[in-house]
Parts: sequence; C-alpha cells; structure tokens
Amino acid sequence: MKSIRDIDAKDKRVLVRVDYNVPVNDDGEITSDTRIISSLPTIKFLIEKEAKIIIMSHFGRPKAKERIYRLDKIALRLSDLLGKKVEKMDEVAGEQVQKKTYDMNPGDILMIENVRFEDGETKNDPQLVKALASIGDLYVNDAFSASHRSHASVAGIAEMLPSYAGFSLEKEIIELDQLLHCPRHPFVLLQGGAKVSNKIGAIKRLMEKLDVICIGGGMAFTFLKAMGHDVGRSILEVEKVELAREMIERARQLRKKLILPVDVVVTDSMDLDHVKCREVVPVDKISANAIGADIGPSTIELFKKSIIYGKTILANGPMGIFEKDGFGTGTMDLYRFLGDFRDSNIVAAGGDTSAAIEKFGLASRFNYISLGGGAALEYLEGKELPGIKPLL
Ligand code: 3PG
Repeated sequence: MKSIRDIDAKDKRVLVRVDYNVPVNDDGEITSDTRIISSLPTIKFLIEKEAKIIIMSHFGRPKAKERIYRLDKIALRLSDLLGKKVEKMDEVAGEQVQKKTYDMNPGDILMIENVRFEDGETKNDPQLVKALASIGDLYVNDAFSASHRSHASVAGIAEMLPSYAGFSLEKEIIELDQLLHCPRHPFVLLQGGAKVSNKIGAIKRLMEKLDVICIGGGMAFTFLKAMGHDVGRSILEVEKVELAREMIERARQLRKKLILPVDVVVTDSMDLDHVKCREVVPVDKISANAIGADIGPSTIELFKKSIIYGKTILANGPMGIFEKDGFGTGTMDLYRFLGDFRDSNIVAAGGDTSAAIEKFGLASRFNYISLGGGAALEYLEGKELPGIKPLL
C-alpha cells in the first residue's frame, strides 16, 4: 500500500480525508473524539513535512446544508487537540476554498465544510471529484471507516490525485489482516449486534478460521428460532432463519463450536426507559409477549467458559441493548472478562461495540479497537473497499 511515509509533501497542498463522523449529544456537543484523536499522527506528520494541509470529512447524513451538520465544532476540537489554528471554511470546494489553498503557508491547516453538503458526494459525481482534485496536489486517505463508501471524497478523488494511506488507515489494515490471515488459535468470535444480515458475510468468511463462535445480541434470536425456539416479540429476521440454520449446520460439519444463549433477559415493553417487568428466562421458556434485550447470567458464564482459552478474540456487536439501563450486563461482564487474557490478542470492531466499550470505560482491556463498523466487516468479508483499492 502506498504510504504517507513515501511522499514528498513539502509545500504541497495535501488533501486529507478523515472520518470525523463523531457522536454528538442533543446540543451538538461532541461526546467522543476518538476519531479525531486517531487522525493526529497523520496531521502532525504532515505539519513536520511542511505540507499545506486541507482536511475533509463527512459528518452525519444531512439531507440539506443543515446547521447541525456543519463542521465548526469539530474544527475547534481538532484545533484544541493540535494546539494549532485550524481555519474552517464554509464551503466544500468552491472559489473561496480554491483561492485559500493558494494562500496557505507550509504547516497551515484548513478544514473544508462537510463533504455531504454536496449532492455529488454520495454519487461519486465526476464534477465534484474534479472540484476536490483542484484544491489539492496529493491525497491522503486516513478514513478507513468511510472506505467502504464509493463516494467522491473517498473513491473518486483517489483515482484523480496521487494517493497515499495515512497512519490510522494503515494500522486498521494491519490489525484486520492479522485477524484474517494469521490469527493465533483458538480464535474466538464474540458476535452480537441487532441484525444477522449485517454480519453474516463476515461470519461466513471467517468461519473456517474460527474455533469458537458465541452468538448473543439481537441476532441470537434468529438463530434460536432456527433451533426451534419461540422468541416472543424479540427482534427476529424471519427471512434469515434458514440462513441461520445453514450456518449452524456448517459449523457442525466444520467441527466449530457455535454457542447460542441458554437464557435471556426479557421485558414486556418496547419502551425500555420505563420498564416495569424484567426477568431472566431460559430460551425454551420465552413467552409470546416477551422481548429479549440481553443475554442471561447462565449464558454469560457459558460464553466465559467458551472463550477462556482464546488466543485471538474478536468482539463484534454488543450482547444486548446496552444503551438502556438494566440491559448492559451481558456486554459489560464479557468485555470486562476479556481484560484478564493478558497473553491474547483482543480486538473489537464495530460502531456499537466501540460505543459500549466507551460507555463502560473498558478500552484498556482491548489490544485494538477498530474505528470502522461497516468498513471493518466488509474488509473481513473479503470485499474490495473502493477507498482502499486505489492505494494499493
Ligand atoms: C461510520 O460512522 O461508520 C462512517 O463514518 C460511515 O458513515 P455512513 O454509514 O454514514 O457512510
């Protein structure tokens, strides 16, 4: 992969694609700046190399140029973290930005407006690609988590300008390649998350390499259904039940341990903020009205026993609706338990997984936390990512 280390950046306008799609609260305040922090090594390196740095990112999925999706607060946070001025522009690649890029001094940092304010971004529109290419001499992709998108600022631009991988992107690829190509065994997947459909490709691809697969979270109910259990009103992907059955059979043929919950925490209302009734039931006693929202204590113990010998452990997707009080125990207990494996490689991937790790303050328990949700899964699935291909 073409690395940022190889470029002669002095006096060049270097367009750096980052992923500052950060979580914010109702007041628009940034609640986690992990993604901004992860881009600092690349930006600092370019400052040292006396490049003129132009930062571009998307933020949210704006339908119009809504104020809440502007990058002003993000630019301020970046500036605080760098201890250096970041000049924020109010347009993406218009005349003012063009002019500004020619007035920059080596080491200056400019941030253009949310690239998704331009219609052409998600369509990878050649006109927008051309405009973006005109504000930079070189392109650096440091946004692994957006690299599965065939968008103008990710894919199109990389075909137009000499393109390189930033340090954060490089690190993601190294860690995920390690999992894909040379995991230490036993290799355990702690799989959760709401939907089977989002994850099935990655699990299928990894199955031959895995030794143990523990399935919790909402997706477990589709597997439990495939095993003949009633799941009440729990999340269920009816059209994926057959696929779940095939996966169970495939695991059996390959002699892999595929472990499903034996008990779950259920409630009777979708309104999880005002739950009146919460109980633990065995999976063969889920009543018609029950909604499963976490794995139960016996399942936590069962999963712990199954992962205890893991030398490589990949945690992908939470075990329950951890955001709601009373339904985070499965996720928290298991992630905390992972910290006792000093000799193992413990990796987390996925947006919800990272959010759970952050909520419970368990980051130190992991050797690596991938910043990419969809991108990491597609990479593990073996898909060619449109933002990575031009860097090879
Ligand atoms: C993410 O947060 O996973 C990435 O920034 C991609 O965002 P998107 O799903 O809106 O393309």
